[in-house]
Order: sequence, then C-alpha cells, then structure tokens
Amino acid sequence: MESKRIAAEHAVTYIKDGMVVGLGTGSTAYWAIRKIGERVKEGLLVRAVATSRQSEQLAQELGIPLVAFEEIDGIDITIDGADEVDGELNLIKGGGGALLREKIVAASSGKLIIIADESKLVNRLGTFPLPVEVTVFGSSLTMKKLAKFGCPLKLRTVNNQPFVTDNGNYIIDCQFGAIEQPQQLHDEINGIPGVVINGLFIHMADRVIIGQNDGTVREL
Ligand code: A5P
Repeated sequence: MESKRIAAEHAVTYIKDGMVVGLGTGSTAYWAIRKIGERVKEGLLVRAVATSRQSEQLAQELGIPLVAFEEIDGIDITIDGADEVDGELNLIKGGGGALLREKIVAASSGKLIIIADESKLVNRLGTFPLPVEVTVFGSSLTMKKLAKFGCPLKLRTVNNQPFVTDNGNYIIDCQFGAIEQPQQLHDEINGIPGVVINGLFIHMADRVIIGQNDGTVREL
C-alpha cells in the first residue's frame, strides 16, 4: 500500500493549474485521487474526467470538479494504475473492470502516467489474466471464439453472478501465461465481433512511476 501511495503522490506533481486530468481506477489510482483532492483544497485549479463510477464518486466526495467529455477537447494528463507493465511500457489493465473507460480516457490524453508498485513489473505480459470486455449479447459465442487462442478463460463473476461493467458488458479473463506478440494479439482479439475492448494497452503509456519497497520512486 505504501509503495502505491508513493508512486501516486509523485505522479500528482505533474499536474499543473488549468489542466484537464483523467482519474484512473483501482487501489493505486485511489491514492492519486486522494492527493489531487488535497491539492484542490489548497487551490489547485483542475477539471477531471473519471474512468469509473467508483472514481467519480471518490472525486465528488473530495471536491474535485468533474467535467463531461462533451465539454472538453481533450485531456492533458491521466494517472492510472495497471495490472502488469513490461519493459516497453506495454500494459495489461482491467483487473478492476474499468478497461473500456480507461482506454477511452487514455487515448484522449496528452500524457498517460501509470503508477504501480514493483510487483506489477514483468518481463513478459500474460501472467495476469487478460480482461476482455464483451457484449452480453452473444457472449457465450464470443467466449468460444476467444478460446481458439488456446487460453483457459473464465467469465468474471461476483457473488456467483456475471460481473457487469459500468458500460453494461461482461468481462472474460483469458489466462495466456505469456503473450509473445502483444500488438498482434490485441488486434486479433478486437477483431472478434462481440468484443468491445481488451485490456492490452500497447504503446499508450508515456511514463511509468514505480513506488519501490525502500520508499523511493523509479520512473520508466
Ligand atoms: C482497473 O480496471 C484496472 O485497470 C486498474 O488500473 C488495475 O487493475 C490496477 O489496479 P490496482 O491499482 O488496484 O492494482
């Protein structure tokens, strides 16, 4: 928890007055939102876009001004967590189920800063099951198509019911083990009708801030 907080608070130093800020989702992004809330109380002038209902609610509680996508031309900086980060700053995201909004926000951001503890750094992506968001309609057929990639997969559930995303979709978690060609896999999965988005974020992160166990941060 401490290393997540350290990484998050360091990332917030990149936020300046007047910026539109993308708020990530998850236990690391939580600390960034908390810190932004503190800085807003001290007078920082920002407007924010949230990547989940959860982050939106936290931002509201902390008094961070939120803005609708329709009111902005773009986002200056987004601070978000990740489930895995490789040496090329490619990511697996979506462990918290917010991958679609996270990718939309990331794709509209001038700068995407990823914050994480050391446990998220990997040589090769794929140990963490890749989340794939699919439409409810046809989801069992979409699952069969995904199974052709040769990965064990699971419909994500909560309390024995399918987990439903903020966008009303399901998530299939695909256990690849090792992803050799992330860009190719990303494109092939997205080509399946019924797939809304997948959790591979290729060449999207501009910077990764790692909170280390010794209390320092490392920037990649
Ligand atoms: C949310 O859907 C995810 O993409 C999170 O950013 C990711 O799961 C990292 O979460 P933690 O910071 O809680 O590990």
